[in-house]
Amino acid sequence: MVAIAERPASATGHANGHATVHTTGHAPVPGTGAHIDIRNVSHWFGSGDSRLQVLDGVDLTVTPGEFVALLGPSGCGKSTLLRLVAGLDSPVSGELLQDGRPITEPDPSRIVVFQDPTLYPWRRVWDNVALGLQARGIVRQERHRVDAALRRVGLEAFGRAFPHQLSGGMAQRVALARALVNDPRLLVLDEPLGKLDSLTRLAMQGDLVELWQRSGFSALLVTHDVEEALFLAQRVILFSDRPAKIRAELTVDLPYPRHRGDPRLTELRHEALRHLGLDASW
Ligand SMILES: Nc1ncnc2c1ncn2[C@@H]1O[C@H](COP(=O)(O)OP(=O)(O)OP(=O)(O)O)[C@@H](O)[C@H]1O
Ligand SMILES: [Mg+2]
Repeated sequence: MVAIAERPASATGHANGHATVHTTGHAPVPGTGAHIDIRNVSHWFGSGDSRLQVLDGVDLTVTPGEFVALLGPSGCGKSTLLRLVAGLDSPVSGELLQDGRPITEPDPSRIVVFQDPTLYPWRRVWDNVALGLQARGIVRQERHRVDAALRRVGLEAFGRAFPHQLSGGMAQRVALARALVNDPRLLVLDEPLGKLDSLTRLAMQGDLVELWQRSGFSALLVTHDVEEALFLAQRVILFSDRPAKIRAELTVDLPYPRHRGDPRLTELRHEALRHLGLDASW
């Protein structure tokens, strides 16, 4: 999904992952992350005998500039919840709000990055990143934003390359740049690093933290990786099996940059696995 956003280039920096400016009431303050309210959201697919309940009374708030990770068993409903937040679908019951306003359709201020970078193979890297601006007809006057987004993901030297000339990690960086060029207020990440090898994945986790700290957007990340969730997020939400219900919430009370060997992360990891019913092997 490529969407377009209105936001001045002067994003609010926040040194420790805490946004320094907060939205008040219904008016979003430009340059800050979105405030997201998920209120008692339940969702079903199908009807009658084939009805499948996927979400069960999910309540969750993401404060401006916050980084929240969602962890849960495969098929429990995490991507479905992200689609609702993105406005790609509407919940059967409950409501979702951004800065106090109902989320009813996709909006340029919320950008989704999926596991697969889905770049257009016939477009050069630069032109893939420029898609959102091109859709708005402002790419000519805003070329510097494409250059800046490529710089932010360390690919300024690859603007003229084609997607097939990139590694998997580089292609995913292009997908991130394509999202960032629009200055999202909420970045929705559905296992964005899921297909990468473990070394690239570790490197990109660090990159993601840096991008988030520099840009000030709110982030909602789905991952299967407990360490990744704890390394990146300020809060980790643990879901039950389908229909997904919030089972527990862990606050990761550590400053950034984090150290993977931090004993507190090990403690939190045990706690997360216990809630997921997977601690027996530890
Ligand atoms: N459009 C749809 N129509 C019918 N069923 C769907 C649809 N989308 C998802 N589902 C079902 O809803 C359930 C939850 O799917 P979802 O993709 O949200 O899970 P998930 O938690 O993201 O899983 P994973 O971790 O494997 O990605 C699954 O059983 C899936 O088959
Ligand atoms: Mg999923």
